[in-house]
Amino acid sequence: MVVLVYGSPGGRLTQALTRVLVLVQLVGVFLSGMTGAIAPMGRRWGPDGPVQPIARTRSVLLDTKTGQLSLVDGRRSDAVAWANLTNAIHETGWAFLELGTSGRYNDSLQAYAAGMVEAAVSEELIYMHWMNTVVNYCGPFEYEVGYCEKLKSFLEANLEWMQEEMELNRDSIYWHQVRLTLLQLKGLEDSYGGHVTFPTGRFTIKPLGFLLLQLSGDLEDLEPALNKSKTKRALGSGSCSALIKLLPGQRDLLVAHNTWNSYQNMLRIIKKYSFQFHESPQGGWAWVTLETTIGNNNPALWKYVQPEGSVLEWVRNIVANRLALDGAMWADIFKKFNSGTYNNQWMVVDYKVFVPGEPSPGSKVLTILEQIPGMVVVADKTEELYQKTYWASYNLPSFETVFNASGLPALVTRYGDWFSYEGSPRAQIFHRNQSGVHDMDSMIRLMRYNNFLHDPLSWCIACSPHPNAENAISARSDLNPANGSYPFQALHQRSHGGIDMKVTNLKLSKALRLQAISGPTWDQVPAFQWSTSPFNSLLHMGQPDLWKFLPIEVWWD
Ligand SMILES: *[C@@H]1O[C@H](CO)[C@@H](O)[C@H](O)[C@H]1NC(C)=O
Ligand SMILES: *[C@@H]1O[C@H](CO)[C@@H](O)[C@H](O)[C@H]1NC(C)=O
Ligand SMILES: *[C@@H]1O[C@H](CO)[C@@H](O)[C@H](O)[C@H]1NC(C)=O
Ligand SMILES: *[C@@H]1O[C@H](CO)[C@@H](O)[C@H](O)[C@H]1NC(C)=O
Ligand SMILES: *[C@@H]1O[C@H](CO)[C@@H](O)[C@H](O)[C@H]1NC(C)=O
Ligand SMILES: *[C@@H]1O[C@H](CO)[C@@H](O)[C@H](O)[C@H]1NC(C)=O
Repeated sequence: MVVLVYGSPGGRLTQALTRVLVLVQLVGVFLSGMTGAIAPMGRRWGPDGPVQPIARTRSVLLDTKTGQLSLVDGRRSDAVAWANLTNAIHETGWAFLELGTSGRYNDSLQAYAAGMVEAAVSEELIYMHWMNTVVNYCGPFEYEVGYCEKLKSFLEANLEWMQEEMELNRDSIYWHQVRLTLLQLKGLEDSYGGHVTFPTGRFTIKPLGFLLLQLSGDLEDLEPALNKSKTKRALGSGSCSALIKLLPGQRDLLVAHNTWNSYQNMLRIIKKYSFQFHESPQGGWAWVTLETTIGNNNPALWKYVQPEGSVLEWVRNIVANRLALDGAMWADIFKKFNSGTYNNQWMVVDYKVFVPGEPSPGSKVLTILEQIPGMVVVADKTEELYQKTYWASYNLPSFETVFNASGLPALVTRYGDWFSYEGSPRAQIFHRNQSGVHDMDSMIRLMRYNNFLHDPLSWCIACSPHPNAENAISARSDLNPANGSYPFQALHQRSHGGIDMKVTNLKLSKALRLQAISGPTWDQVPAFQWSTSPFNSLLHMGQPDLWKFLPIEVWWD
């Protein structure tokens, strides 16, 4: 996950046969009845699922007499919230969403209306993404009963605890932002379901509904914590690469990230939210927050994952992005109510203290935070960045205390350097290749780099065959032979890899701009194509068959 945050004084910018189709519609009916999740829509259907129009703009209006909120087409100047979505997935691999709210309405109404309008412009994509990634997680056809019941009670208890805290702490800006985040989700769920009612007091969110989409990261840890038998996270699985690179002469600071995930997750939307919240800090700032997942391999720590006293990670990171004014403050806010779920190494890059051409300001440019259950460690790494000229992140904790506590030493003993902070394949590739980054293009090449058949650093000695497509800056685990032999799950053939690349620099970040590529890398390897891959039977509604896109520059009006 990467978030670019920019603020200004006074406000916040902040697939398929007919048979399959029928099945899909049936699944929708079951979902609405059984798990209270997502119902099918009365939308136009193509051969590949519901048809998302190329472009659509909608607004949410408030009837001041009745207090009712309603959705209308187009952008209206008196709207509480408006959004437009351009679907360019078949041309670029991305859809783009721009959403704004009006400061004439209170924060709560803005947040709920934002959720409403987002669902209204992106409902087909939401449906297809749900079908590709979430359906059957806890029903309707497959169900790990014990786990799903534990998960449901955990989430209900957690939502209940947060509602109590919100009532007890009405004057707290922290709980105000938690409430706004949940109200936005509530607006999304209500609008998608066609029953809109703005809640003024306590409200409920379905534990196994839209929340599951928000929770995908938190679930990686809720699953082992709640003893799920088959877990999402494969042992040792990479989950994102990141590189922060100070160019020679400090002439620019580049921040780049690529997301690693299952290929079913490739319906992607780049979003820009502009909220006009009243109760948020004043001041001009521009920073980038990004993470790679470190996970937890020490079962003794799962006892710290509890529904009371925890705010799940997906909420904590939004709240920290909205309330912090610098990296240290971001870390202070983020670490409160550590849920021990979605355990990541976070990097906060503060562009407002980076001065091109100047020596290190000593602090504040780069803050690193690492979270595992029961522990959060934070340090300012500005000096190290200026000395080494780069910070690389590749799913291993950099703080020894975190490394030791999270069960990694045992994995190093068992499997060797693959799990060590300095010896893992990506640590070595970044170390060898970072000095070749001198501009945006060379950064993009490194972030898309995967020459596993020829690069000795991609070798896995214990594997047959030795070259492994997971051991690269941008993994292509689909290219590992199915009949190979591998020491652990991450190195097997999987429908998994780096599915994008995003990069920004000082100039672009100030305008919330970035360069981006969607889909698995094809620089040194053949492009991924569903129909010729071993994974064609996995649902991938709405996705292009061939993933072969060039970089694009994302800009906003
Ligand atoms: C939203 O609409 C504006 C005005 O028509 C257009 O310039 C912009 O590109 C649209 N943005 C998206 C993300 O569709
Ligand atoms: C916000 O505005 C709405 C509509 O006017 C109102 O019902 C609500 O009480 C206001 N305040 C909060 C905190 O929701
Ligand atoms: C998970 O299993 C462990 C070991 O059997 C047990 O101690 C723990 O209470 C279980 N946790 C949950 C949430 O069921
Ligand atoms: C981590 O474990 C290693 C090996 O047991 C030990 O040498 C080191 O001191 C530990 N580091 C910390 C910070 O606990
Ligand atoms: C990384 O380094 C290797 C070895 O020097 C080189 O062959 C390769 O082209 C480099 N890749 C990138 C993207 O810089
Ligand atoms: C694995 O399958 C490939 C063809 O897909 C074949 O060439 C190779 O000999 C097989 N290797 C083993 C170890 O069975």
